[in-house]
Amino acid sequence: LAALPEGYTCRPLQRADYHAGFLDVLRVLTTVGDISERQWDERVEWMAGRGDEYFLLVIVDGGGKVVGTGALVVERKFIHNLGLVGHIEDIAVAKDQQGKKLGLRVIQALDYVAEKVGCYKTILDCSEANEGFYVKCGFKRAGLEMAHYY
Ligand code: ACO
Repeated sequence: LAALPEGYTCRPLQRADYHAGFLDVLRVLTTVGDISERQWDERVEWMAGRGDEYFLLVIVDGGGKVVGTGALVVERKFIHNLGLVGHIEDIAVAKDQQGKKLGLRVIQALDYVAEKVGCYKTILDCSEANEGFYVKCGFKRAGLEMAHYY
């Protein structure tokens, strides 16, 4: 595992992370919108009820602020003998914290969980600009993403 800077920790997402800057870290990635605390609690509870399917991790700095995050969603299939596929989603590191191996650490941790729960592979979609990062995390280009937006 990539070493975290002194005082930083990597742990599962908690409800209290609403007040620790979690959504601001996600804003590095894309539009998040205005999510009320009630909506947040509802979604976190929903995910917690699917604890064998949704694994959200955060990296927190010494002051308790969320500085990085990533998710693993475990998909249950019929093919490959009821195989499990890991999907890595929504990886983000706060702008002023990039380049400290926090992204690498999040991927390593999610990869570990995926293997531990029995996934036969883990896949993700990314831009060409991020390909080098994922190659350094041990991934390789495979297939082509298609999207249909609604
Ligand atoms: N291209 C090539 N190499 C890269 C890139 C890149 N875009 N970003 C990082 N690397 C390299 C680093 O130089 C480092 O290499 P080294 O081990 O030789 O020193 C290695 O990858 C690990 O880098 P980290 O320090 O762990 O990267 P960081 O913590 O900055 O996180 C991330 C990378 C997550 C892409 C971050 O820049 C970020 O949050 N970007 C904005 C949001 C984003 O694009 N997220 C990914 C979307 S795809 C998805 O979510 C599935």
